Amino acid sequence: MSVNLEIIQTALSDLKDPETGRTIGSTGQLSGVEVQGKKVVCSVSLSTHSLPVQDGFRERILETVRTCRAGAADVEVQFSELERPPVPLGQIGLSAKSVIAVGSGKGGVGKSTIATSIALTLSNMGCKVGLMDADVYGPSIPHLLGISGRPEVKNGKIQPIYYEKIAVMSMGFMVEEDQAVIWRGPMLHGAITQFLRDTYWGALDYLIIDMPPGTGDIALTLSQMIPVTGSVVVCTPQQVALLDAVKAIAMFGKTKIPVLGMVENMSGFICPDNGKRYDIFGHGGARIKAEESRVAFLGDVPLNMQMRAESDEGRIGNAVLDPVCKPALGKIVQAMCERINDRAAAQPNGPALPVL
Ligand SMILES: Nc1ncnc2c1ncn2[C@@H]1O[C@H](COP(=O)(O)OP(=O)(O)OP(=O)(O)O)[C@@H](O)[C@H]1O
Ligand SMILES: [Mg+2]
Repeated sequence: MSVNLEIIQTALSDLKDPETGRTIGSTGQLSGVEVQGKKVVCSVSLSTHSLPVQDGFRERILETVRTCRAGAADVEVQFSELERPPVPLGQIGLSAKSVIAVGSGKGGVGKSTIATSIALTLSNMGCKVGLMDADVYGPSIPHLLGISGRPEVKNGKIQPIYYEKIAVMSMGFMVEEDQAVIWRGPMLHGAITQFLRDTYWGALDYLIIDMPPGTGDIALTLSQMIPVTGSVVVCTPQQVALLDAVKAIAMFGKTKIPVLGMVENMSGFICPDNGKRYDIFGHGGARIKAEESRVAFLGDVPLNMQMRAESDEGRIGNAVLDPVCKPALGKIVQAMCERINDRAAAQPNGPALPVL
């Protein structure tokens, strides 16, 4: 039986681009389907925003060709990069396709660690990433990444400090590390406004925002300035932390920021001496709480000595590549991006993510 190219082409045309939810046939992203003997070669272009879900999309292409039974014995998928710049957001003109706030109801559960790790993982996958430290009282991102410097102002825009390809903005660049800064509410609002509106972020796929602990002030400011794509709620497995996480979910709900999902941090400890797992703070509580709260569970990151030690030394960039952290973070980022894409696919006709 010869390969029926037309059937394959029609079936593939209906697949939806992960970023926009539009069919790849209509957007021109299915740039070719060719037969080479019994093998079908499919050429598809995806934007860098979709790189975290590229493997899943390849699977979908393979499955589609398989199920249309058009005589293809073998399938190859060739991806190329689609140039698709972001549309400036809101009135402030921030050019970012997805804005993600990483928060929790409780201090010290690892928001900054997870926010920075997500930014690094996305960047390592090839996405264009910005990282904004919205914790103006206790900025920790410059320390985690081991970067310093004073942002310059060029053409009326604050130039971020770069960690490799990631544009970073933090109050830590503006004040000395041991200096106490007293912030009044309106000043806080002003600082966040400057970070978002007056910083030259460039064209971003993802802007990751590390939220401060506590009240919803900053979340409210953010949601009034830009359409925040969604939030990631970080918690540790103990019951007290989980209760605070539920409050964080409610807080994001009040500010109309959709919750993309929950991450369980410090989830078990894998002993480097014997490889055994010890559930110091418990394990699995976040998954249960996520289900109860009707939000997705994105994954967990174990308590990890390398993560703690390298972060303290300003080398979190190394820690995310560690054999325990890398797969865990890859899974979380992939799940997070799938949720973002579900939202894109659901608009404007389908239901959006639950705003609780
Ligand atoms: N998975 C992990 N394994 C080991 N150490 C971790 C892990 N996650 C976070 N830590 C460590 O826990 C401490 C607190 O983390 P982090 O500063 O990210 O928390 P936070 O929630 O941002 O705190 P704050 O509320 O003060 O902003 C840091 O020393 C960090 O290195
Ligand atoms: Mg923090």
